[in-house]
Amino acid sequence: MIEKDFLPEPYNQFPEKGTVEWKAPSNIALVKYWGKKKHQIPANPSISITLDTCATKTSLSYQKKTKGNQFAFDLYLDGEPKEDFKPKITTFFERIETYLPFLKEYHFTIHTSNSFPHSSGIASSASGMAALALCLMDLERTMLPQMEDSFFKRKASFLARLGSGSAGRSIDGGLVQWGHHEHIDGSTDLFGIPYPYEVHPHFNNFHDTILLVHKGQKQVSSTVGHDLMHGHPYAENRFAQAHTNLDRLRTVLATGDLEEFIKLVESEALTLHAMMMTSMPYFILMKPDTMEIINKIWTFRKATQTPICFTLDAGANVHVLYPESVKEPAIQFIQNELVEHCENGHYICDRMGDGAKKIIQGNR
Ligand code: DP6
Repeated sequence: MIEKDFLPEPYNQFPEKGTVEWKAPSNIALVKYWGKKKHQIPANPSISITLDTCATKTSLSYQKKTKGNQFAFDLYLDGEPKEDFKPKITTFFERIETYLPFLKEYHFTIHTSNSFPHSSGIASSASGMAALALCLMDLERTMLPQMEDSFFKRKASFLARLGSGSAGRSIDGGLVQWGHHEHIDGSTDLFGIPYPYEVHPHFNNFHDTILLVHKGQKQVSSTVGHDLMHGHPYAENRFAQAHTNLDRLRTVLATGDLEEFIKLVESEALTLHAMMMTSMPYFILMKPDTMEIINKIWTFRKATQTPICFTLDAGANVHVLYPESVKEPAIQFIQNELVEHCENGHYICDRMGDGAKKIIQGNR
């Protein structure tokens, strides 16, 4: 598919008013997206695990306007007006207007809330943009009722990606691949697709316990971070490495080789941070407690042979990954040894989820 395929045919009905509501999950990348081109095209392909517990719920009420010459919306986070989020939504609307030409025809009231605590250091842009894209698609579907489900999801991912790259991976469940890779059928830079190959049962219901090491504002926004890959001395090698790692991961996912999985996933996380440490300006986003946790995971793994590993996003929090089969010892270890490194002892037990869901009114 190409961009043009997401331009709608003319609408022949505009509903007067209504409300739709969606819940979209967060995701954690195994092979990282870091670096992008114009129009939110990733510099390299990535793959992520869709989470379950960490999610954003968004309701969108729409009311037809008389004049359709500008965007009009009110935005609330946890019931409170959220003026400082508005420029981000306006930019999002500007980017997607070509594909949703009804946007200026409505006044929108957007209510959003996250399941994870505010300023937990967990980015809400992936789940937030995905939930909003789904609400807007739901409205478009009322105007084009013959739309197929598969198209609905693809376009939702396509739009979400234009809001925040990783949001394109927050529509489908399980493992989601985003970005063209020559050996992954159907992969595209335009939207996320469910990982199309065999996955060993070891990876079913995979766990991600998120250790909230530092709950403050991120030191570098991901937009600034991606930008640092322009002219970065190691950029080309890094982008090529992501392709190779996706090839390696395909074998790992098929065979269930957890040892190789761990090597690949931890190396990806550290490479992401290495890119930040070697950019200009440079950043260290790990905290001393991040390092303590990593070292403890390595020691525990060596001593007990438990297949537990970590990944990181662009911050100090640690995602501890492990299969269902070692859930009990892993949780014990996390509680006994790792939680002391979390800010106020806070952590979130999450796992692989099955993707975004519509919230049916009256059934919340
Ligand atoms: C480190 O999707 O937040 O989490 O496209 O600028 O909104 P924008 O960036 P964003 O970047 C996520 C980067 C990452 C790695 C990943 O999720 O693949």
